[in-house]
Amino acid sequence: MDFLPPYYTLIFFSIIILLSTFLLKHRTASKNLRLPPGPWPLPIIGNLHCLIGSLPHRALRDLSQQYGPLLLLQLGEIPTIIASSIEASREILTTHDVKFASRPIGPTIRILTAGGKGVGFSSYGEYWRHVRKICVAELLSNKRVQSFRPIREEEVNNLVRNIYTPASSGQLINIHEVSIMVANDITIKTVVGSKCEDPDVFVKELDNIMKLASGFNLVDLYPSSWLLRLISTRLDEAKRCHERVYQFLDRIIGQQRERKSTKGDGVSEDLLSVLLRIHDEDTKQIPVDIDSVKAIIGDMFAGGSETFSTTLEWAMTELIRNHRVMRKAQSEVRELLRGCTTVRESDIVKLNYLHLVIKETLRLHPPLPLLVPRQCRETCRILDYDIPKGATVLVNMWAIGRDPKYWEDPEEFKPERFATSNVDFRGTDFQYLPFGSGRRMCPGMSFGLANLELALTTLLYHFDWKLPGDVKPEDVDMSEAPGITLRKKSPLLLHAVRHEPDSA
Ligand code: HEM
Repeated sequence: MDFLPPYYTLIFFSIIILLSTFLLKHRTASKNLRLPPGPWPLPIIGNLHCLIGSLPHRALRDLSQQYGPLLLLQLGEIPTIIASSIEASREILTTHDVKFASRPIGPTIRILTAGGKGVGFSSYGEYWRHVRKICVAELLSNKRVQSFRPIREEEVNNLVRNIYTPASSGQLINIHEVSIMVANDITIKTVVGSKCEDPDVFVKELDNIMKLASGFNLVDLYPSSWLLRLISTRLDEAKRCHERVYQFLDRIIGQQRERKSTKGDGVSEDLLSVLLRIHDEDTKQIPVDIDSVKAIIGDMFAGGSETFSTTLEWAMTELIRNHRVMRKAQSEVRELLRGCTTVRESDIVKLNYLHLVIKETLRLHPPLPLLVPRQCRETCRILDYDIPKGATVLVNMWAIGRDPKYWEDPEEFKPERFATSNVDFRGTDFQYLPFGSGRRMCPGMSFGLANLELALTTLLYHFDWKLPGDVKPEDVDMSEAPGITLRKKSPLLLHAVRHEPDSA
């Protein structure tokens, strides 16, 4: 929540009076609807107080246990529906998919995405269909993902070298840092190319974007308040951040244009080159202008890097806490790759248990615990309740993934559970949707999984991992950090011991 200095308090309370009028109007409009249950909203703040003291996905799970699988909260000015069961998420994401196929776009996201010009936050309609098709068919197709294999393999080899030197002198390896490093390196090279200068500037700004994008702040919760916009520094920060990212992309685009004549050298095209080609050739009625190119590139980076590093760190965290699972996963990897000096992607398809480890990690630690918010496009009925047009809709995938109604021993890390069931993340098993479902389901699933599988296999093949000193597996800190993605709060620190390729 934004911090307000004391001299703003008076101004803040005058906003509150204006907002009461708004809320009163809103409630009158909704009085003929059978709205989902929820705690009684307080004047002005609505139910914001219900989220204090706990991370949103946890607080929302607790409220759903009290009020039911479809819950209505008034978060500031925003009526918000939370779905926390298979039935509720199926209705929203599939049965009535088209009615929930838009995204809400608050003031901060509007600035960061140039008015929703990318794929992730554009409103449902012709433009979104056009850019989504480009994503699915051109940027994130299986063929394109395969074309990036050499980049992935090169970057995981760099990862091994980067761990090996400090590890051999007994230094602790910060798994958080190495996960971010490999995720950023692969993503930068595939998205904007290997000749990118100053990648650190880009990475830093994108990290700021993830922090600014969470949506749980006063400016986004009271979007009609001009006064809050005036006094909060958040939107200025978002503007500065957006400008720096766009200036960086302008430079890269300039360099790409200069190099264009030397293309066709057999090197796989990075996603920016693909988009620039589409931009130059585009004869469709809906043009992909340069701002769209930059916004889509932002989506690719934000979608790709953060989900990758977060999941890799959680996977290592669960493995170090579960010795049996670590041993089983390492035995599988080492038997299959025995004698190999590097991990090749072609071998990974044969790793059954490793895939189960990744699936189980995504169940307990979905990088987007509330998916990406949807917006209700027309009033409709879900589970016998009316969902008002304009409401923000969240699906609490984190809660569904840990619900004892759907999972045996839900809090335990047991990859084997997926060996005996057909439950998969392809968007049709509603107890398990780490990539979402329906029209707005993640288009980057194959890309994300290819990155994750190779990086995790590499870490398990080349090193044995140990907790430092007398830290016991059960003492590993599992707290989550606040933000749009489910990051681990404190970094995982481990000793790494090099495993010799010849020994199994
Ligand atoms: C472990 C990896 C990943 C996970 C768990 C993940 C998860 C998700 C989820 C939950 C959504 C929202 C789906 C919905 O509303 O139903 C989403 C949307 C999206 N993801 Fe991913 N994602 C991953 C990797 C990627 C990658 C690698 C990219 C691209 C490089 C990507 C690009 C996108 C885009 C562009 C959207 C918005 C789609 C739209 O609104 O039409 N994601 N992702």
